[in-house]
Amino acid sequence: MQDPVGSDNFVLSDGCTLDDLIDLEMNEVSLRVMSDPELHRIEMERVFAKTWLLLGHDSEIPEAGDYVVRSMGEDPVIVARGKNGEVHVSLNVCPHRGMRICTAETGNAMVHRCIYHGWAFRPDGSFIGAPIEKEQMHGSKRSKDELGLPKARVHLYHGLIFATWNVDGPSFEEFLGTQKFYLDMLFKRTDAGQELLGPPQRFIIAANWKTACEQSASDGFHTLTLHRSLMVGDGPMGSTPETIYDQAPGMYGVDISSTEGHSLRCMPMDKQFTSFAGMDFSQDDDALLQALPPPGLTPELALQAKHHLSPEQLHLLATNPPQVGGMFPNVLIIYIYVARPDGTMSPALALHTYQPRGPGKFEFFNFILAEKDAPEELKRDMLENAIRQTGTSGMIEQDDADTWPQIMRSSYGPKARKSTLKYQAIAGHEIPDGWPGPGLIYEGFTKDDTQWNWWLNYHRLMSTPA
Ligand code: FES
Ligand SMILES: [Fe+2]
Repeated sequence: MQDPVGSDNFVLSDGCTLDDLIDLEMNEVSLRVMSDPELHRIEMERVFAKTWLLLGHDSEIPEAGDYVVRSMGEDPVIVARGKNGEVHVSLNVCPHRGMRICTAETGNAMVHRCIYHGWAFRPDGSFIGAPIEKEQMHGSKRSKDELGLPKARVHLYHGLIFATWNVDGPSFEEFLGTQKFYLDMLFKRTDAGQELLGPPQRFIIAANWKTACEQSASDGFHTLTLHRSLMVGDGPMGSTPETIYDQAPGMYGVDISSTEGHSLRCMPMDKQFTSFAGMDFSQDDDALLQALPPPGLTPELALQAKHHLSPEQLHLLATNPPQVGGMFPNVLIIYIYVARPDGTMSPALALHTYQPRGPGKFEFFNFILAEKDAPEELKRDMLENAIRQTGTSGMIEQDDADTWPQIMRSSYGPKARKSTLKYQAIAGHEIPDGWPGPGLIYEGFTKDDTQWNWWLNYHRLMSTPA
């Protein structure tokens, strides 16, 4: 068998190639990708070891020595703050005999000592030494510098901690591409910036990571059917079981994507919620942002956004705010208002990462955010609302978490694994009149373009050796 990881065009043991799995002409992907163990090994090398990955937020580790344990794909890492305040990401695997070094999930330590034989490391990953220094239990064939933990390249993006093993690869700005214009609107709104409201929720899902990640690339269409319970009745979307497919609440807007596989769904405020029907949407941007601040902002905090964003970005925030979307390969973004039973609106800001745990499982991290300077009452409301709506027991995402394992199980059968996932409802990129931002833009009914762009970037990375 050809070594699948080392060659440009890998060939799986039964002769299957990437072009057999992803049909670029037909916009189809073989269902087999949702459980194939050989493909999983290649993905860890060519996708997860090459791209930038979201690990957490610097508000989780405010003091020198603070750390959290996370993973980059299947590689466990220590995310630690060093003595000068800098953030380091190091492989959490002892170079002596392979034991995990940090066995706690979080803590504070200026020395990380392996519990097996006691080799010790600093928060920056450098090797301190082995017990009984005079006996030189690390030998003399390798210098202490060589025995430090492998370190990832780190980038802090408005407090979000990203890292990559691809130290000579694209910069973080190149990784964001044209999507930076829109992501800055979400993460760079106030003077003090954002923080996490407690540690992330974590769940293990018995499904391949791509079941959740291709959906996170702005699959808007599923909400009409899978999440219909949220759209019928007396709620803000205002549909009934009889009218939901005629009214198609939330389906018309502007989907934004990039060649890097990121995406966001922007929804016109004047059409989204019937509750807002009485509002005057002809007001100027300043008035709109005061009357209906984006989720997570108060009118006072919305004034601060003017210092951080351009007039074009503010215009979109006021009229067409991004609400859900994803970052390639494994991040989901949720910046939404949800109706309370009394008809008022409650905000929730959440980011998810989906970390593979073998081809048949992934770990779902739910990071819940707020602006640091938001009133405590608003933060508490946002925390409660995010827990009520998101995660595997949240009103919205319990629906999603039900589909992912079933899609993976579908891929086991010898007949079913030859089926294909279809992305043939393509709108085509077209910039609407007056649209002020960059990127690949799709206006109108939400279609498959953004998800297909996700697969195109997956194909690009999987075509390139590690
Ligand atoms: S495995 Fe870590 S000190 Fe031996
Ligand atoms: Fe969903």
